[in-house]
Amino acid sequence: MEQAQAIAETGNGAAGAASAQTAAHAIHTRDLNLWYGDFQALYDINLDIKQGIITSLIGPSGCGKTTFLRSINRINERLGYVRIQGAVEVYGHDIFAPGVEIAQVRKQIGMVFQRPNPLPISIRDNVLFGFNLHGEVRRRLHRSEQDEIVEGALRQVLLWDAVKDHLDRKATELSLEEQQKLCIARLLPVKPRVLLMDEPCSALDPKGTEAVEELIWGLAGEYTILIVTHNMAQARRASDECIFMLMGKVVEHGDTADTFVTPVHKETADYIEGRYG
Ligand SMILES: Nc1ncnc2c1ncn2[C@@H]1O[C@H](COP(=O)(O)OP(=O)(O)O)[C@@H](O)[C@H]1O
Ligand SMILES: [Mg+2]
Repeated sequence: MEQAQAIAETGNGAAGAASAQTAAHAIHTRDLNLWYGDFQALYDINLDIKQGIITSLIGPSGCGKTTFLRSINRINERLGYVRIQGAVEVYGHDIFAPGVEIAQVRKQIGMVFQRPNPLPISIRDNVLFGFNLHGEVRRRLHRSEQDEIVEGALRQVLLWDAVKDHLDRKATELSLEEQQKLCIARLLPVKPRVLLMDEPCSALDPKGTEAVEELIWGLAGEYTILIVTHNMAQARRASDECIFMLMGKVVEHGDTADTFVTPVHKETADYIEGRYG
C-alpha cells in the first residue's frame, strides 16, 4: 500500500519533484526475464532509460520489443500463462512490489498502440475518458474546467485547430493520423510521466508519420518516451537514444547518432543496414 501511495505521489506535488531529481533514470530494469508458457521471450534485460528523452527500441520482428514495452506497464500479466522474473523500477519505484496497484502504475505510464484505438464516442469525451476513469478529482468538474482540459490536451498534440469546431464529432470518423494524435491526447490529462509507444506510425502514411513524429518530439522533455519502430529512418530522426534487441536480448543501447554511425556490435550493424529483419 505504501508503495502504491509512493507511486501515486510521484505523479503530483512536491514529493514528485524531489524524486524526479533523485531518480536519474525513468525506467530501470534488472535481470528481467519473461516467459509465455514454456517459451522465453525476454532474457536478462538490464536497461536504464533516461528521463525526459526519446529512446527508440528497434530490432527484427519477434525479438521482444512489444513484450518489453508491455512489461513496463504490466499489461502482459493479463495473460494467465505469462511468467515474469526480475525487477522493473519506474522513477525509483518497483512496479512489481507487493501492494502496488496496477491502476497507479498505469496512471504513471501511458501507452499508444500500433493501430489508433479511439473509443466510438465524441472527440471531447475521448480526451476526458481516462481522466474521469482515474477519478483524479472526486467532484464532478464544471463544464469550463472540462473545456480547459480538452483544449490543453488537443493543443499539445497539435490537433486543436483541426477539431475545435466539431468536438462532438465521433472520434472514429477522424483520419488515422488524427485518431493517433487523439489517442496520445487522451493520455495527457492523467499526467503520466512515461509514454510507451508501440509503432505508433505504422498505420499512417508518410505525411501522417511526419506529423505524429513532430508531435512526439514536442512532448520529449516533459515526458519520458519509449518508442518501438520498424522504421530505421524514424529511429534515427526521432530518438536521442536507441536500444537494439535480438531474440529476446538487448544487444546494444546508446546514443542514437553513435549507434547508427559506429555500432559496437556486428548484429546491430547488420540490422541497421537491412541485412535482416
Ligand atoms: N501473447 C503471446 N503468447 C505467446 N507468445 C507470444 C505472445 N506475444 C508474443 N509472443 C512471442 O514472443 C516473441 C516476441 O514477440 P513480440 O514481443 O511481439 O516481438 P516484437 O514486438 O519485437 O515483434 C515472439 O516469438 C512472439 O511470437
Ligand atoms: Mg511488436
